[in-house]
Amino acid sequence: MCGIIGYTGSSQALPVLVQGIRLLSYRGYDSAGVAIWQDGSLRIRKDKGRIEDLAPRWSPDELAGTTGIGHTRWATHGVPNQVNAHPQHDDGETVAVVHNGIIENDLALREALEADGVPLVSDTDTEVFAHLFARAFDGDPVAAARHLLEACHGAFALAIQHAAMPDTIIAVRRGSPLLVGVGVRENLVASDLRPLVGRADAVIDLGEDQIAIVTPDDVRLFDADGAEITAERRPIDHSERDIGKDGYPHFMLKEIHEQPDRIYELVASRIDPKHQRVRLEDVGITDEQWRAFDRVDLIGCGTAFHACLYGAYVLEGLAGIPSRALMAHEYDARKPHLDERVLAIAVSQSGETMDTKIAIQSAVDGGAHTLGVLNVRESVIGRTVNGVLDIHAGPEVAVASTKVYTQMLCGLLLLALRGAQARGTGDGLLAEIAPALKRLPDDVRTVLGRFDRVREAARDVRRAGDMLFLGRGFDAGTALEGALKMKEISYIHAEGYPAGEMKHGPIALVSREVPTVAIATSGPTRERMIGNVREVRARDGEIILVATDGDGDAEKLADFVLWVPEVHPLVAPVVNVVPLQLLSYETARLRGCDVDQPRNLAKTVTVQ
Ligand code: F6R
Repeated sequence: MCGIIGYTGSSQALPVLVQGIRLLSYRGYDSAGVAIWQDGSLRIRKDKGRIEDLAPRWSPDELAGTTGIGHTRWATHGVPNQVNAHPQHDDGETVAVVHNGIIENDLALREALEADGVPLVSDTDTEVFAHLFARAFDGDPVAAARHLLEACHGAFALAIQHAAMPDTIIAVRRGSPLLVGVGVRENLVASDLRPLVGRADAVIDLGEDQIAIVTPDDVRLFDADGAEITAERRPIDHSERDIGKDGYPHFMLKEIHEQPDRIYELVASRIDPKHQRVRLEDVGITDEQWRAFDRVDLIGCGTAFHACLYGAYVLEGLAGIPSRALMAHEYDARKPHLDERVLAIAVSQSGETMDTKIAIQSAVDGGAHTLGVLNVRESVIGRTVNGVLDIHAGPEVAVASTKVYTQMLCGLLLLALRGAQARGTGDGLLAEIAPALKRLPDDVRTVLGRFDRVREAARDVRRAGDMLFLGRGFDAGTALEGALKMKEISYIHAEGYPAGEMKHGPIALVSREVPTVAIATSGPTRERMIGNVREVRARDGEIILVATDGDGDAEKLADFVLWVPEVHPLVAPVVNVVPLQLLSYETARLRGCDVDQPRNLAKTVTVQ
């Protein structure tokens, strides 16, 4: 979704802002822009399009200044065009604003401004900030920023410039994340860490309703009452700096290949082999609480929701707590019964997804114990919940989630094992699973080493218009995830189903032109999956089978077999999704699609 970058220092701002916009573009955007202070006025350049096309049109001579703000916009209020792109400004162009988030009362504010004779030129809610700030500013930027916090409802992160303040950026945060990057005689403002890496040595996370006044040598922080507060700085750690492609042609492929190392680190740090215990003390759920829970709600969207499906199986199956996976945007509508015996888990890579944030907030309000299974601990959801299980996947740049999904599965399995431990339902369980978890990175590596076979299958499916993905039990979610990956990056229409649904409708779609990917690896659901595969075969459907090494039936039943090593059924979804990630990657690549930044999608969806 939208991204913010701001710079004030002694270097030219334009190249820093353009590079920042490039680094933010993984979030998805349809327009971009910059404002730079020069000779007492703000120079604003912005338009619909990608930064590669826009930046060459922005003349460094006309934008020669050392303080500026930049933005990537993903349209919500108003179509993507020049007028609606950010920075937005007031009528005199004395104020420029870039904004992530939404003003909920923007219609009322617009009407009030228009009634006062203020001309509004864009369809955006952001423009309101520019007019309100300009009218409230009397030389004191904190007072004008406080006026915005008072007048505007919703979630927003803002970077603001005023023509009367040559080297100053005013940063305001409510609900949406905003960081100040602290460098040497230069400071930056950004909506996430990526554009700060390499320039800033430390960051200040703006808290709720805080205002920062940022100049090249100073960062002053104020609360909503205008009182100055201490700005806590934290260093940028090594893993946060790691944002290159490491020689891979795409971030997605790099991230798929990072999975073995990430899984190893997560599992190794959480299992105490000596005492046969899962160590999740920092998550903050006591044995007593575990024993008292009588329901688990796992809440997420998209890929994270698919991880929730698996999470519900393992939490119920291993820890014996009735568990359900729920799409975050449907949560409130159910009016769930909530109290302290409900464990509500928000599963989210970004920790910023608005639907998930709203759902988990209602669980907080209802008195449930709340937990985030997150990749960004310092996120909006991370600050909302009682505890966080950090899945430590490292930065994920490709819009399509891969390594985060397998980390979510591993994190949820560890959580279920911990629950089982506390509730006494896990006797001997860890002894059984620990070796499988230990071998898991190597098993994933084995599948990655079989990319050539996947390439052959991709050459075949690249021309398909539609595809089906089938799995059962733990792998029902794998099927949904395989279909989501395929549709989002290759634009082939793909549907994923728990295979038992086939005869209740989807089987009508089976034909030679609709390849079916079936996950039928060894384990309790294999026989029934093979039954489904035969049904597809009997209708002349093409089959790509994910099967376990040594399965004697696989070659006979399938057009292509994607072999995976024999693993414990509880960890099979982690291994089985990998050939599907590779298949979607390769199919998208062969079809000439923009693998890392598929059309219409944003990495982080911060609107409802
Ligand atoms: C798909 C994908 C999305 C996200 C979803 C939730 O590849 O990445 O479906 O999983 O938008 O995002 P987070 O996990 O950030 O809450």
